[in-house]
Amino acid sequence: MRVVLIGAPGSGKGTQGVVLAEWLSVPYLSTGDLLRDQAADGTPLGRRVAPYLDQGELVPDDLIFDVVRDRLKALEARGGYVLDGFPRTVSQAEEADESMPGGLADVVVYLSLPDDVARERLRHREEGRTDDADEETIEHRLRVFHSETEPVVDYYRSRGILRSVDGDRPPEEVTAAVLAAIN
Ligand code: AP5
Repeated sequence: MRVVLIGAPGSGKGTQGVVLAEWLSVPYLSTGDLLRDQAADGTPLGRRVAPYLDQGELVPDDLIFDVVRDRLKALEARGGYVLDGFPRTVSQAEEADESMPGGLADVVVYLSLPDDVARERLRHREEGRTDDADEETIEHRLRVFHSETEPVVDYYRSRGILRSVDGDRPPEEVTAAVLAAIN
């Protein structure tokens, strides 16, 4: 099964994505993790994307496709995937849907969360991410989510493969709701 997780910063995409991939026995791919690893390793790609990550800006689409294109095809050959953080714009969704046979996803799960709850989670995250470091960057990420990524929710709703799950409850309850939504 091919699952895409969409949600605001802090909505639990990473938390749920790892668990869901285990349940489904498919690989998990987080574009945020992938880009942060590249930045931490100081690769050429990492040096290009680090300023976007630090400022809470989206990385340009052409760079994202350089990162995901071959990986998606490889993951599909393994029987499916759980994607966290991609697609994040309607143009990413359209291009991915055109380039993958049968489209990018069988089901898209939208983890909904009030902004105030997202802010609290990001402020208290223990890993110390640079994009959680100040209030303005957190606010900017939320604005980018509403302007760039929420339209992706509507895009997949109109295609009939969107499932909405309330992300504002304990992680185990969210997991149960996600599993119920995709079955
Ligand atoms: P990305 O890594 O995707 O970050 P994000 O969307 O800001 O989301 P987070 O990782 O902050 O939150 P999450 O929803 O995964 O929640 P989590 O489980 O971690 O992207 C980072 C950057 O990469 C972007 O800003 C952009 O620059 C770039 N990028 C990535 N993909 C891109 C793309 N396709 N195009 C362009 N640029 C791209 O949980 C958050 C916290 O809440 C944790 O502390 C967790 O323990 C806690 N928590 C989780 N669930 C619960 C719960 N149910 N109850 C209480 N606490 C909870």
